[in-house]
Amino acid sequence: MRILNFGSLNIDYTYTLTHIVKPGETISSKSLQVFPGGKGLNQSIALARAGSEVYHAGCIGEDGKFLEQLCRENGVHTKYIKTANVRTGNAIIQVADNGQNSIILYPGSNRSILKEDVDRVLENFGEGDILLLQNEINQMPYIIEKAALKGIKIFLNPSPYDSCIEDCPLEKVYMFIMNEVEGLQMTGKKDEKEILKIMGEKYPRAEVVLTLGEKGAYYKTRCETFYTPAFKVEAVDTTAAGDTFTGFFIHAILEGQSGEKALKNAAVASSIAVTRKGASSSIPSWEEVNKMLENVHNYA
Ligand code: RIB
Repeated sequence: MRILNFGSLNIDYTYTLTHIVKPGETISSKSLQVFPGGKGLNQSIALARAGSEVYHAGCIGEDGKFLEQLCRENGVHTKYIKTANVRTGNAIIQVADNGQNSIILYPGSNRSILKEDVDRVLENFGEGDILLLQNEINQMPYIIEKAALKGIKIFLNPSPYDSCIEDCPLEKVYMFIMNEVEGLQMTGKKDEKEILKIMGEKYPRAEVVLTLGEKGAYYKTRCETFYTPAFKVEAVDTTAAGDTFTGFFIHAILEGQSGEKALKNAAVASSIAVTRKGASSSIPSWEEVNKMLENVHNYA
């Protein structure tokens, strides 16, 4: 099954700090590292490392050529990544001593996608293919409309949530994958059970994955709800933990694994990611995930 991921590619400038800077405060960082990132790129790499056939579509500037190269090295197809005469999208990421992060995005080339680019990419995909989207590129409503017309199943990670999500024809989405912050933004509810209930009422045909960080994750289909606890580890950097979860979960579900098993695979994959620095650099391989699943009794 082919997965088309129409998504962002970013250069991440990651600063480590004792704590996330407060309003009006100035602090010196302990280090600065530059990592490949972007929710789109991270999810493509997670899918590919899990074993899926992924086609990444998106836009970089000349300064982002190494991101395209990284995709290729990870087995992600790159022929739908275009290069425009603009600066590549970037992210300023603060990582605190406790592993928590805070991110500012500069969309750059990620917002240079034209309708004709969308048409050109989608003409190569159709029924039986999967489309994965996050919310870091432009043309989202158009992409969803066109893909739905072609019978492509749409998986949406509405992250980061903003008014662009509200402009999208969300009733065409097959599966939402979101965390509790996006859950609150999508439903106005804080409680996880309430979030799942409202999502079910608003989008009765859709499946919903709700990740809760250290509290685990839920997967709600039309008739069943599955849950997995989080796998406890010492977090160093939580960047891309959600992207890792998304990639491994989608791969497992498309492979036909049960909801319970898919959640466990994804929880283990993201628990490995948080023990490492960086975004896509922290994503484990399928072999690593499998080894950890075998070694940990309560996850076997
Ligand atoms: O989800 C993590 C990602 O969010 C980072 O890689 C950063 O680029 C932002 O898109």
